[in-house]
Amino acid sequence: MLKLNSPAKINLFLRVVGKRSDGFHELSSLFQAIDLMDVLTFEKSHEDRLTCTDPTLPTNQNNLVLKALNLFRQKTGIHFYPNIHLDKRIPAEAGLGGGSSNAATTLWACNQLTGQNVPLETLQAWSAEIGSDIPFFFSCGTAHCTGRGEIVKNLNPLPSPKIHIVKPEGGLSTPAVYGKVNLNSYKDFDVQDFISGKIHPFNDLEQPAFEIRPELKNLKLKLQAGGFDTVLMSGSGSSFFCLGEGQFIPDSSFKVYKTSFILRLKDNCWY
Ligand code: C5P
Repeated sequence: MLKLNSPAKINLFLRVVGKRSDGFHELSSLFQAIDLMDVLTFEKSHEDRLTCTDPTLPTNQNNLVLKALNLFRQKTGIHFYPNIHLDKRIPAEAGLGGGSSNAATTLWACNQLTGQNVPLETLQAWSAEIGSDIPFFFSCGTAHCTGRGEIVKNLNPLPSPKIHIVKPEGGLSTPAVYGKVNLNSYKDFDVQDFISGKIHPFNDLEQPAFEIRPELKNLKLKLQAGGFDTVLMSGSGSSFFCLGEGQFIPDSSFKVYKTSFILRLKDNCWY
């Protein structure tokens, strides 16, 4: 049996650099893993079985866990049929990469349990075939991601501020948010300018998300009134992260998760 943490991510900045001929958008984004984590348990068996604590999530081939398992079998040619249990804690459709993280964790687990010794870089390259955000989770936990998100460059760890994740009711569809991006408004910049503090956290997907769900803009204003240093949507939403000290005005329309940055410390260990 193998039990593994599967962390969420936030995007400390997300710049949409352009639109590609394959329909995807070219990005420049600083991804950071956080210790809001699902837990996945894998057991060798004779047939695939996926169970999940969240009854609203599909446990069929649409789940990225099973897509990753199939990808591993297809690439290695190995016959491997595990029972997998997903203890879901990361909110879905939140821009926190929960499904992508689960897929990366599954590829890692398959490699461990079958003793295939596929190099980490190879697992990472394979993972891009089933989702743009998955390769990030094979990084050290802090990375600059470009291309459609799948080109991952490890960065030195950043000091963790206090972080609260705020998840409003209802999610957002990633393709719908990308569909509203106004490509003329954004300019590329140097990552070092962000790291040195010259550029503050921002997300080019926030405005398009507000066009789809205008009430999210009101939520952002409400959170900003709590005094946090930064309040920003993560990825394509609908969650926000609040950095630094601040207060929440009690509201039953969202859930709050207290968290911090985490790192993947060694190449031969998972989170
Ligand atoms: O790669 P992934 O399956 O996560 O992408 C989901 C959808 O999000 C894509 O089909 C595309 O509409 C949009 N997307 C995009 N540009 C990216 C990543 C995702 O337009 N860089």
